[in-house]
Amino acid sequence: MRKINVFDTTLRDGEQSAGVNLNQEEKLEIARQLERLGVDIMEVVFQPSKGDFQSVQQIARTIKDCSITGLARAVQSDIDTAWEALKDSAEPRLHVFIASSPIHMKYKLNMTPDQVVEKAVQSVKLAASKFPQVQFSAEDASRAELPFLARLVEEAIQAGATVINLPDTVGFTTPYEIGNMFAYMKQNVPSIEKVILSTHNHNDLGMAVANSLAAIQNGAGQVECTINGIGERAGNAALEEIAVALNIRKDHYNADTGLTLKEIKRTSSLVSKLANMPVPGNKAVVGANAFAHESGIHQDGMLKNKETYEIITPELVGVNESSMVLGKHSGRHAFKEKLTELGFAGDSVQFQQIFDAFKDLCDKKKEVTEDDLFALMTETMTDA
Ligand code: KIV
Ligand code: ZN
Repeated sequence: MRKINVFDTTLRDGEQSAGVNLNQEEKLEIARQLERLGVDIMEVVFQPSKGDFQSVQQIARTIKDCSITGLARAVQSDIDTAWEALKDSAEPRLHVFIASSPIHMKYKLNMTPDQVVEKAVQSVKLAASKFPQVQFSAEDASRAELPFLARLVEEAIQAGATVINLPDTVGFTTPYEIGNMFAYMKQNVPSIEKVILSTHNHNDLGMAVANSLAAIQNGAGQVECTINGIGERAGNAALEEIAVALNIRKDHYNADTGLTLKEIKRTSSLVSKLANMPVPGNKAVVGANAFAHESGIHQDGMLKNKETYEIITPELVGVNESSMVLGKHSGRHAFKEKLTELGFAGDSVQFQQIFDAFKDLCDKKKEVTEDDLFALMTETMTDA
């Protein structure tokens, strides 16, 4: 089984979500929870403000079981500041990046490809003179020309990078293409076996998790992600979805993160609360409906054997139990279970009367509560 390192960037790329602004205390609380979850690397900052700087130092001094990193542009001042903030951490790591696609090099950087390579080499060398671990990211790699990308990556490795990240910065790529990009690097970068390859995907086309998994299948040994998939624009690949997919489909991926999966729900709720970003009900793994069953056929199957309609056990990710929601699609089997749980001891005629009244009520109300059921039971039993 391959071990996949989890590089969590909730506190950096995640905090770049529109409207999210975490204070020092909140960042530390999230960092502590990420440590409990067992992430390998935590990225906590990019271009720190004064307040951020203190917050990073505090995290660096408190968290002992993960490597702490910060993102830096390929410029000396960013690298120096990151060193000051991170030097007290257990395993200081710098994440330095420069753009690699024609559109970014021309319009954003106004640099030639040769100049980009030179700058990357200079900054990786400088970072490696301070930090024991240096990750180099070729920003917008998924839109770069592959021969140029291979050259840039080889030069960064020669300069001292220990991890190479190939991001899909704008969420443009597909699982098939990202697989090819990783396979191409494996075949065309002479020193590739000296480093860990990393994947970092955005969700603009809703493919961030699928792309991350395809990259893992093609040689990535590190995956970058955020809790609940928060991040720039449509967000980043969701940590919980990747970790659970690898766990549930070990037969397919033969890879695992080693995370303490039962901490997932708690981590998701904490990030949602502090970032003030509600989790959609139908969100995979952590949404309120992820383990809720409403239709009669599904509820009946669940009551006979949970594996009929649940591929993830709620306990795996720290959710107490699955729920049967009573609504207009529910069937008699689940309804009877619920009534029995509420103390119903009537006969089959009374049961049928309550069931019919319940169905009528479902047409009038969005949600039928336990109080409603008690009322229906009381009415029927007193009429009898
Ligand atoms: O999306 C991206 O390219 C990034 C990098 C700087 C790694 O966040
Ligand atoms: Zn990103």
